[in-house]
Amino acid sequence: MFSCNTTYFSLKTLTFAQRNKNNKTQSHRYMEKKFKRTTVTSALPYANGPVHIGHLAGVYIPADIYVRYLRLKKEDVLFIGGSDEHGVPITIRARKEGVTPQDIVDRYHTLIKDSFKEFGISFDVYGRTSSSIHHDTASQFFRTLYDKGEFIEKTSKQYYDEEAHTFLADRYITGECPHCHAEGAYGDQCEKCGSTLSPTELINPKSAISGSKPVMKETTHWYLPLDKHENWLRKWILEEHKEWRPNVYGQCKSWLDLGLQPRAVSRDLDWGIPVPVEGAEGKVLYVWFDAPIGYISNTKELLPDSWEKWWKDPETRLIHFIGKDNIVFHCIVFPAMLKAEGSYILPDNVPANEFLNLEGDKISTSHNWAVWLHEYLHDFPGKQDVLRYVLTANAPETKDNDFTWKDFQARNNNELVAVYGNFVNRALVLTGKYFDNKVPSCGELTEYDLETLKEFANVKAEVEKLLDSFKFRDAQKEAMNLARIGNKYLADTEPWKLAKTDMPRVATILNISLQLVANLSIAFEPFLPFSSKRLRNMLNIKSFEWEQLGRTDLLAPGHQLNKAELLFEKIEDNVIEAQVQKLLETKKANEAANYTANPIKETIEFNTFEKLDIRVGTILECQKVPKADKLLQFKIDDGLGTRTIVSGIAKHYHPEELIGKQICFIANLAPRKLKGIVSEGMILSAENFDGNLSVIMPQKEVKPGSEVK
Ligand code: MF3
Ligand code: ZN
Repeated sequence: MFSCNTTYFSLKTLTFAQRNKNNKTQSHRYMEKKFKRTTVTSALPYANGPVHIGHLAGVYIPADIYVRYLRLKKEDVLFIGGSDEHGVPITIRARKEGVTPQDIVDRYHTLIKDSFKEFGISFDVYGRTSSSIHHDTASQFFRTLYDKGEFIEKTSKQYYDEEAHTFLADRYITGECPHCHAEGAYGDQCEKCGSTLSPTELINPKSAISGSKPVMKETTHWYLPLDKHENWLRKWILEEHKEWRPNVYGQCKSWLDLGLQPRAVSRDLDWGIPVPVEGAEGKVLYVWFDAPIGYISNTKELLPDSWEKWWKDPETRLIHFIGKDNIVFHCIVFPAMLKAEGSYILPDNVPANEFLNLEGDKISTSHNWAVWLHEYLHDFPGKQDVLRYVLTANAPETKDNDFTWKDFQARNNNELVAVYGNFVNRALVLTGKYFDNKVPSCGELTEYDLETLKEFANVKAEVEKLLDSFKFRDAQKEAMNLARIGNKYLADTEPWKLAKTDMPRVATILNISLQLVANLSIAFEPFLPFSSKRLRNMLNIKSFEWEQLGRTDLLAPGHQLNKAELLFEKIEDNVIEAQVQKLLETKKANEAANYTANPIKETIEFNTFEKLDIRVGTILECQKVPKADKLLQFKIDDGLGTRTIVSGIAKHYHPEELIGKQICFIANLAPRKLKGIVSEGMILSAENFDGNLSVIMPQKEVKPGSEVK
């Protein structure tokens, strides 16, 4: 027979054995090459709007999980974040609101920073690209490349607004789309049909600044000749980084296979970092040139004296967390910039995610189709971990994924509450009941105990393997599996039934359960940091280390626990329905905004119109037509007698609300049969953009039979 202590040793051996086995089957670069430290960056969000679940799921939660994991393992890691505060959309927003671009970025930088903090995104620094340290850093970076002759200078013709005396960014030119002929298409894209455009394709281009017709004018810019970097990029990515995610590797390969072109790194714009070259007045660094340098500036801001080792030491591992629309910039353009500069390391991995959709539709800031983090926090206070859990469980790691409120509810109720929360609660409440909240001691173990502990011993190696290879969604599943094991163990051993007859056995079962609970607080720490903290409070433990995961001696017998609280709570249907309703209203508002009336039909003569006999009638009776969900049957007083009309408005009116009302109907329409009933005329209604029908009624009461002219 084993005791808990001997089990601990045998388990430890088992954990190592398991780990070795895993190493053979899947080798990680990370394990092959010894790095001293890891620099983790997460894409700098544009400070022109709040952040939503797509941002969290795509970039910030995975980055945060990874960083928390490394910190728990006591590795040297730095987590860099910040706001991207340049670029044309910010200037457009400012112009629309009649404020300065700085006002816009000040507002959103603060909002975004606060949202991240609330969700526990544990940046070491959250900087901003309008800071002076960034302006200096980016400016110097440009100047170094310029002085080394790493740029080429090219003159080309671009649209210019002669009234506003300024060159026009693509987004500042609007006109008719050459494809779908919608008005108001932008110089880079038509939002109606989605086609990518160049400004010269627009029909009747107009400046969004002055409304005038832009003219073509010559302008000079600096270009990064990516074509010159193609060879080493090819080798570096396609041969040396085959371990990158297939979506990342694939996108890089197709860019490289198409052949790289020189890319402009400056723009004619009055918001951004001035090009530090004489005679470059009115020109700023292109936002995609300065933004990634922001990672470096923010490191400098945090560590003015020791930032360099995080960016220049070959023993530092650099990881960029981004969304898929950023792949080319982080895998090709920024590495080319770093290489051209000469003293920087290159990223070791770029675990880019695909996109998260919302209830089947693409998340869109401009269409307000999103779950905004600040609104979530308002509607679900204290439930940050629930969203973290759901977004990781559904992380778009290999393909686009969908967030739905139903799934959110199901994962909360069926997984967090029913599995994790339930197990923890039962273990703690039983310990309170039978052992006065003190950890009971462990006696002899049964075969079943050993089996349970064995299953559980694999979890550490399994979670590590998955986290080391950026498979966050599977890693979290493994952690949840630990809770499943615990839940099943309690359900199978039923200690509450043994309390009268075998207290030593109850003690052993609860000891094992509590050790599992302690393990859960470690395993879930990277994923659900708020819950892990609460759990540690209940266990009356200050902190755990990752290395302790898998051990069964985390809580000593006699250790005093605190009172149990519920870790998660059920989310009711009405709460979910309210969120769904909110989205439906957004959808309606968008449809209404997009609605354009149908074109007018061909002209008719007055005498054609006169042929129509439109009358007012009073509704005497109204009822549903059996077996026809759209039809209502009316008995109408038409002033000369009564007539029957069948009308397809049952989805929009209840019979009771129409009886006694006056309506307009076409009185001389040839009778026709509907569902076996002869309809003698047609009731007139207006059809709203969303298909809703509104019956036409005279505004003052008139005698039945009155003519409508
Ligand atoms: N602001 C960009 C976006 O939201 C990301 C910039 S990442 C950086 O797509 F590297 F440039 F900072
Ligand atoms: Zn179009």
